[in-house]
Amino acid sequence: MEALKGGDYTYNGGLMFIVGLMLLSCGGGVKGIGVNWGNQATHPLPASTVVRLLRDNGIQKVKLFDAESATLNALSNSQIEVMVGIPNEMLSSLAASVQAAENWVAKNLSSHVSANDVDIKFVAVGNEPLLSTYNGTFLNTTLPALLNIQSAIIKAGLDTQVKVTIPLNADVYESASNLPSGGDFRSDIHDLMLEIVKFLSDNGGPFTINVYPFISLHDDPNFPIDYAFFDGNSSPINDGGRVYDNVFDANFDTLVWALQKNGYGNLSIIVGEIGWPTDGDINANVKYAQRFNQGFMSRVTAGQGTPMRSGPLDAYLFSLIDEDAKSIQPGNFERHWGVFYFDGQPKYELNLGATNSNSIVAARDVHYLAQRWCVMSSAASLDDPEVAPSVSYACANADCTSLGYGTSCGNLDARGNISYAFNSYYQIHDQLDSACKFPNLSVLTNQNPSVGDCQFRIMIQSQTTSTGARVTRTFRPLELPMDLVVFVFMFLFSVM
Ligand SMILES: *[C@@H]1O[C@H](CO)[C@@H](O)[C@H](O)[C@H]1NC(C)=O
Ligand SMILES: *[C@@H]1O[C@H](CO)[C@@H](O)[C@H](O)[C@H]1NC(C)=O
Ligand SMILES: *[C@@H]1O[C@H](CO)[C@@H](O)[C@H](O)[C@H]1NC(C)=O
Ligand SMILES: *[C@@H]1O[C@H](CO)[C@@H](O)[C@H](O)[C@H]1NC(C)=O
Ligand SMILES: *[C@@H]1O[C@H](CO)[C@@H](O)[C@H](O)[C@H]1NC(C)=O
Ligand SMILES: *[C@@H]1O[C@H](CO)[C@@H](O)[C@H](O)[C@H]1NC(C)=O
Repeated sequence: MEALKGGDYTYNGGLMFIVGLMLLSCGGGVKGIGVNWGNQATHPLPASTVVRLLRDNGIQKVKLFDAESATLNALSNSQIEVMVGIPNEMLSSLAASVQAAENWVAKNLSSHVSANDVDIKFVAVGNEPLLSTYNGTFLNTTLPALLNIQSAIIKAGLDTQVKVTIPLNADVYESASNLPSGGDFRSDIHDLMLEIVKFLSDNGGPFTINVYPFISLHDDPNFPIDYAFFDGNSSPINDGGRVYDNVFDANFDTLVWALQKNGYGNLSIIVGEIGWPTDGDINANVKYAQRFNQGFMSRVTAGQGTPMRSGPLDAYLFSLIDEDAKSIQPGNFERHWGVFYFDGQPKYELNLGATNSNSIVAARDVHYLAQRWCVMSSAASLDDPEVAPSVSYACANADCTSLGYGTSCGNLDARGNISYAFNSYYQIHDQLDSACKFPNLSVLTNQNPSVGDCQFRIMIQSQTTSTGARVTRTFRPLELPMDLVVFVFMFLFSVM
């Protein structure tokens, strides 16, 4: 429960000196809001730029999905609290070998904590490994990997400073009655969940849960939209005297009941991911994202918990920055979860409670490519047989997730759609001349083709290391399932 103490004072404006003392002493209070920092982008911002962005916005906690040394080096001496991650793909080797776990801890934990002064507080073992759509792939390896990592942490003498956890999706619990009080762990993993929860409890690790009201709305057209937000406008649900007017509270408390029912009612809970995307779906837009994230932030800043857990929420927004190389298997919105665009520009006003400002501030010293776009040439004909395969190729190897019904570029005409696809390909390929050579169809322009909310973006420069080597990931063709390519294709040409 350590992480839940002291928050009542943290945000009392009249007690600023206490706030200062608490922040300095790091005395176990909830340190404001955290953010998820992922790197699945074709052109990630330099880690040092991102760390400065965090500091400029008063963000004191960050959750990572791996333990890349470039990221951790940038966090050195930053006073920012870090949760490092172990990808699911590593779970089987860590489960099979104590030595592998010790190597991981030595390389990715001990060295950064001691020599590098990175304030690592948590290790996230796996990322939603028990998700039901994984069909049990990580069922046998998650807990053994957790045990081996914990033993290695103890052996390294870091167990008082660093706690283990497993970020889980809210699909690990359910409620037969559809009320929070009916909460229990999913029946197919019930025993495993109890072992995990006991282990976390014994070792002082928190239960980390990812909650997505957006997905509730996305998956169920009958979902009452106001219930996704925090304005209290929806008709409330009464659960034995506890009143729920938003799905987050109900979902979180379903977990509290599940824990309580199984004898772990005091286990601390971290919300590992929560947020709202801004594009790629009819319900993904700046207006809803601001409404959701600001509503959630107001709760965090006020130290207001849920009906079952009144203490302050300990949470990490998903996410900090858009990632244009994420798989779009879950949906086109997947590349648009950032509070900031790919280049560190804020998308909307947001008060994170840490500074006195209602606005988040942009990344500094961002280096863009030239003001140049690749578009469909006016001489080219929509009937040219090369158009369809060209657009299909561009979209499969770049990012067309802002095209589609209800998205930011959903109102473009046919030529606009084609230009958007060409430009995305051209920018993602660093404005190489060879990336604007769609046969007799494309042309370069210095005129910004953006219209209204539909931005034809200019890419940022790839990073170079001190040796001059490019560190931008080599561009891999995005893992688009074929049916999706066909889908994008059909969408683009539906009215032609
Ligand atoms: C350390 O973490 C990185 C990034 O997640 C990973 O690639 C590497 O294999 C890890 N090192 C060891 C020794 O496990
Ligand atoms: C899980 O099983 C379903 C149904 O058999 C299948 O469609 C899906 O591809 C599987 N997913 C994974 C990650 O194996
Ligand atoms: C997990 O272990 C069980 C029992 O040993 C086995 O039947 C199952 O195939 C294993 N699952 C995976 C994904 O390895
Ligand atoms: C849970 O916390 C409460 C309040 O701090 C305490 O009274 C109770 O004994 C704890 N229960 C368990 C099982 O630890
Ligand atoms: C442009 O693309 C959008 C999204 O794919 C689609 O809804 C629209 O119908 C297209 N417009 C034309 C004229 O092809
Ligand atoms: C482009 O157009 C020219 C003349 O209109 C034609 O000769 C040439 O074959 C075309 N090139 C391609 C790649 O289609």
